[in-house]
Amino acid sequence: MGLESQTAEGEAVHNPRREQGHVGVLVAIGVVASLLGIGLGLLIDWFPVAASDEAGPIDTVWDVLVIVSVPVFVLVTTIVLYSVWRFHMIPGEEDLDGPPIHGNTRLEIIWTAIPAIMLVALCSYAYVVLTDIEEASADPALEVRVVGEQFTWTFYYENPDDPDGQQVASPQLYVPLGQQVNFTVQSEDVIHDFWVPAFRMKIDAVRGIDTHIRVTPKRIGEYPVVCAELCGLGHAAMRQTAHVVSADEFDSWLNDRAQQAAGGGEAGGGEEGGGEEGSAENGKAVFTAQGCGGCHALADAGTTGGTGPDLDEGLAGKDEAFIEESIVDPSAQITEGFQDGIMPPSYGQSLTPAELDSLVKYLAEVTN
Ligand code: CUA
Repeated sequence: MGLESQTAEGEAVHNPRREQGHVGVLVAIGVVASLLGIGLGLLIDWFPVAASDEAGPIDTVWDVLVIVSVPVFVLVTTIVLYSVWRFHMIPGEEDLDGPPIHGNTRLEIIWTAIPAIMLVALCSYAYVVLTDIEEASADPALEVRVVGEQFTWTFYYENPDDPDGQQVASPQLYVPLGQQVNFTVQSEDVIHDFWVPAFRMKIDAVRGIDTHIRVTPKRIGEYPVVCAELCGLGHAAMRQTAHVVSADEFDSWLNDRAQQAAGGGEAGGGEEGGGEEGSAENGKAVFTAQGCGGCHALADAGTTGGTGPDLDEGLAGKDEAFIEESIVDPSAQITEGFQDGIMPPSYGQSLTPAELDSLVKYLAEVTN
């Protein structure tokens, strides 16, 4: 293209016949490079395991984008490299002006129209896939409210015993296999982004508005929940776990959780005045499940997080009351060198009394 628009001087160097030969070789190289690029793009395992119904169509969108964009990339790169090689300035020519360039209307229309058509087609396709994915299922969806705050997620479920009563809070996400889940996503402070890569769906959590995504889990297992919006010092530690379990397992988990939350009064039974009793043995599991180690170093748990104070140092010689206060009301006493407001103040609500008690006993035991 444009190769024949040479001046008399240029023609001596660029013979049109030879240029045609070059173009033939270029096209051949371009086709081979495109095929290799597409093959490689499709072979590479870009994503984590697909754990939701939505993952399939999204992964297909990705594959289509690879197939369409690799030849475009190869075309542009080949022309640039060819031009650098073929038309570079020869020593001694530095002061010569190149041949005058006139526009080529037909060429400009073509190279504007083709990308425009491709873009419109790809956007339409992606739009159709997204609307399709976001459609509500015929069966009622499970409603889960997701609240992001610096730096944790809390998941709220309708109380199975008392649908109008207080919601059941959990620091871990549990969802039943095969039932659509309607996530209502909220933020307590800055913008976060609720993302389960294995589900492929993600959406911003913005203070003051509710955002929604629908996901139908299709594979039992545990998958990371991450925050995908830079939200402050503890952003990287804002990681929890999504558990996809069978419908029965989910029901019994939710019932247990609701009973534990009601805890102290009804289920506490014989114990007087102390709330739910925990144990140091269970505390380590709570520490791990809560992702405490993402921010705190603790030798016993093998964690090295540096966002918050080192617990082996900070809790040495402290009693259970201090530890409990540090978890429930982290602003009460700030360790020197750390900022107030980094640790979420919500653990008093999201942990059950038994979990909190276990965590406190565990920390007291391993740091003293
Ligand atoms: Cu929350 Cu990043």
